[in-house]
Amino acid sequence: MDFAHEYHHLSRAFKLWYLNVRAAKSIKQDDNTLYLKDLKVVLTNARRKHLKQIIALHRQLYGQNFLKWMYNIYRCKIYELGCVALDEKDNVIGYCLYMFNECELQDKILHEQYVGIAKAYQGLHLSVYLRQFSHSKYKKGAINAISTLAFEGDIKALRSAQKSGFSIVKKSLKPPAFYLIKNL
Ligand SMILES: CC(C)(COP(=O)(O)OP(=O)(O)OC[C@H]1O[C@@H](n2cnc3c(N)ncnc32)[C@H](O)[C@@H]1OP(=O)(O)O)[C@@H](O)C(=O)NCCC(=O)NCCS
Repeated sequence: MDFAHEYHHLSRAFKLWYLNVRAAKSIKQDDNTLYLKDLKVVLTNARRKHLKQIIALHRQLYGQNFLKWMYNIYRCKIYELGCVALDEKDNVIGYCLYMFNECELQDKILHEQYVGIAKAYQGLHLSVYLRQFSHSKYKKGAINAISTLAFEGDIKALRSAQKSGFSIVKKSLKPPAFYLIKNL
């Protein structure tokens, strides 16, 4: 990679990091947790101590690590931009991660970047509970709506999003995906 190209990438990564760190200030309204008795699972705001397990679970589910700039955002603002599901031993078995995109910032739209549920807990509607719990954390006014993408053909992701209150707004071509919105 030549210097100009590398500089372009670095400055874009820094811009996104800065935008997220600034916009994420004071967007959450409470620190309440929720206990799902049937599943014996606790839903709570994500914290720095959960990050290592979130990354490991993400690698298992998606087969890849976070991009470095994204990791840097979550290292600084995991509490504001994430929620987790914990088992009885406090292990992370699910996560929801959010971020701000430049093009959505003006409309106060927060983007749901990743949702992941450990294989042993899939099919129990945990993604729906965790998403709804996470959405309820955001202060109306500070955030007007939440967006997400469901890739074409990923029926599980699409159904999980729709059951969590998202509606399809448009289809994007690159990558082929549905863009969904949930108003708060
Ligand atoms: C996609 C994912 C988050 C769904 O989590 P989950 O907790 O297993 O899903 P839920 O049990 O909440 O199911 C929600 C809905 O999805 C649909 N669904 C779930 N499993 C399905 C399957 N195997 N086939 C088709 N639809 C399925 C169902 O409509 C279900 O609701 P219903 O049972 O009331 O009909 C989870 O499978 C996952 O972590 N996958 C790997 C990471 C990923 O692909 N994330 C999605 C990108 S946003």
